[in-house]
Amino acid sequence: MAHQTIEQIIEDAEKEINGAADPRVLNDLSVKYLGRKGIITQYLRNVSDLPEEIRPEQGKKANQAKERLSKEIKQAERQLEEKRLVDIGGIDVSSPGRPMNIGTLHPITKMTAEICDTFIRLGFEVVEGPEVEKDYYNFEALNFPKDHPARDMQDTFFVSNDIVLRTHTSPMQVRVMEKHKPPLRIIAPGKVYRCDSDITHTPMFHQVEGMLVDENASFGDLKGILTAFIHQIFDEEISLRFRPSFFPFTEPSAEVDILCVICRGKGCRVCSHTGWLEVLGSGMVHPAVFENVGYDSSKYIGFAFGIGVERVAMLKYQVDDIRKYFENDSRFLRQF
Ligand code: PHE
Repeated sequence: MAHQTIEQIIEDAEKEINGAADPRVLNDLSVKYLGRKGIITQYLRNVSDLPEEIRPEQGKKANQAKERLSKEIKQAERQLEEKRLVDIGGIDVSSPGRPMNIGTLHPITKMTAEICDTFIRLGFEVVEGPEVEKDYYNFEALNFPKDHPARDMQDTFFVSNDIVLRTHTSPMQVRVMEKHKPPLRIIAPGKVYRCDSDITHTPMFHQVEGMLVDENASFGDLKGILTAFIHQIFDEEISLRFRPSFFPFTEPSAEVDILCVICRGKGCRVCSHTGWLEVLGSGMVHPAVFENVGYDSSKYIGFAFGIGVERVAMLKYQVDDIRKYFENDSRFLRQF
């Protein structure tokens, strides 16, 4: 054996590998050539007895041979396995693979991010807070006295006597003001809960709260910011209408309608033939709320607004049933 050159060894081995019709034979060949007592291993051991001038070159060649044969054996094994699968008729290895189903961001997640982005560009900072909330933050500090009928407007899920699932993101106004002094410009996105369910209501939905407090802020600023927001999300042609409304924590209060994105004001089924669609609630922060957080209500003035994310998403994507967003049908969710 020792008299064989490395080239001869390779030639013999390759002949045997190519002729192997059974994985067991390949395994034996691996032992025969590359094993602990294999021919190449033996050859490598003998290299140290060779004259110094050819020793490094022979060593290198032997190592390369080892690598090459090991690769060839593996490849032959793969080919035999593929052939076996084709022979048993199970798998056609040449057919295209099955596509993997890759997830996408949920449309509500995307809409929330888009809403937040428009306000971030206007200098607002994002804050987040608890969904299981104290009655104090959800109602009391927002100027809803105990037993006030306005509490009934928000079909509340109670966790205990004084703990609720927050019915809106407005408690974040109070949480932020308790910790920080004006000037403030915040938005607070998140989940809210109300015991309500039909084609335009789900027990869990999303809002983005916004609040600005400074020494001089006006209702005009509120209109300007909300107009910029609506134009960014929809288009410049969409006009807004501020309709007087009531919230205990804002005075004056306004609900904002936008021109119907479907009929552009002519009147259709979506806007109940009014030409307008309600998208958010807003108003100037009530002095009582400032007093509750220890702000001087004669010095500071501010405005707040609460945007329904699903509502905006339904109008923007023209989806007529809010429940579609939560059925988790990937054919629906993939379209956004
Ligand atoms: N929190 C109110 C709601 O959920 C919306 C709102 C927010 C109104 C901020 C005024 C100011 O209906």
